[in-house]
Amino acid sequence: MTASQSAERLGREIVARLGELSRISDSAEGITRLYLSPAHRRAADLVATWMRGAGMTVRFTDLGDVIGRYEGTRADAPALWLGSHIDSVANAGAFDGTLGVVTAIAAVKELYDAGKRMPFAVEVIAFGDEEGRFPTTLTGSRALAGRFDQAWLDERDAQGVSRREALKSFGCDPGKIAVSRPQQGSVLGYLEVHIEQGPVLEATALPVAAVSAINGASRGTITISGMSGHAGTVPMAMRQDTLTAAAEMILAVETRGRATKDLVATVGRIVVPNAAVNTVAGETTITLDVRSPIDAERKAAVRDIEAACRAIAARRNVSIRMDMPYDAPAAACDEGLIKALEAAMASSGTKSGRMGSGAGHDAMSFKDIVPFAMLFVRCKGGISHNPSEYASEADIGAAAAVLCAAIERLSENM
Ligand code: HGY
Ligand code: MN
Ligand code: MN
Repeated sequence: MTASQSAERLGREIVARLGELSRISDSAEGITRLYLSPAHRRAADLVATWMRGAGMTVRFTDLGDVIGRYEGTRADAPALWLGSHIDSVANAGAFDGTLGVVTAIAAVKELYDAGKRMPFAVEVIAFGDEEGRFPTTLTGSRALAGRFDQAWLDERDAQGVSRREALKSFGCDPGKIAVSRPQQGSVLGYLEVHIEQGPVLEATALPVAAVSAINGASRGTITISGMSGHAGTVPMAMRQDTLTAAAEMILAVETRGRATKDLVATVGRIVVPNAAVNTVAGETTITLDVRSPIDAERKAAVRDIEAACRAIAARRNVSIRMDMPYDAPAAACDEGLIKALEAAMASSGTKSGRMGSGAGHDAMSFKDIVPFAMLFVRCKGGISHNPSEYASEADIGAAAAVLCAAIERLSENM
């Protein structure tokens, strides 16, 4: 079979499995597979079956992640980590996260079916907490990097369920969460294949590209407190209306996001408890997501947004509480691993490129701990976090061929 025929076969097989995974959802319509949900449980079990079918032994972590291990020829050799996530946002697409997990399993299955062993073990990790059901996310990859704060167990989701309770209902033991920094030299690196979730590869007619760095992100909430009142009787001048204050703050966030190159600032959700058509809102909470490739600019933007919101609150006789628990620094990918991906692209006849990542990924948890790199796959219209998210079978096959070639390249470099 020629290289392009095997890339086509890989693309076909991966797309078929992505279709199977996309049918695992907690919503009747579309794909909703939140961290530690019943759908996540079913997806984790399916992925474990696929891992075993690729010659891997499988273990489940006490944070709900699935780790498959394909032994190498040398027991003392470092492990190569591959992976991505299988949780999704609500009403998600079929490729975000799952593409990286299914492609990694397919790459190991190529070795297994050929009876090949590398001079290193290959571990495939299906992370469950990437999208963020709780205020802090990426907890699976952070724990693997030795960075886990027990306080995260008491975080609550939008329905008030604590992470601790959700872990227990998922079958995990929060008291046994393994948090250990990998021993020096025990991990060769972490490679993640992921859809680009943006328009660059389509615009530059590239099927795949190596990622140079992942933008840093700050994430949290701004809760505005005022006074609820009767919409018919409270005069306009006497109101402490938190919903109109939020409206002004949301536009201030957008203005600040527009003010700096490569910065983005987003309010994605607004919550008005006890909202009613005839009630002046006494409390409103908005979410805040700020990202930049430059940490100092991201932090300055968060400070500016807080100052702007406090000024708006003072003028409107309301108060705010800002909680920003999530802070993920910008993370540069490892030059050696990028070069291995670029050499793999060249050897598999794929035009190569490099680009930054505006989206966050589990890979960023390994900053300064484990070398990491990412391979982006072109996605139609750059659309993601949306049911019309799409990557072509041909591009997926090309990405899988690059990943297989990169594994071989790392083996030759050993
Ligand atoms: O928000 C992100 O960047 C990722 O999609 N979770
Ligand atoms: Mn993702
Ligand atoms: Mn996502």
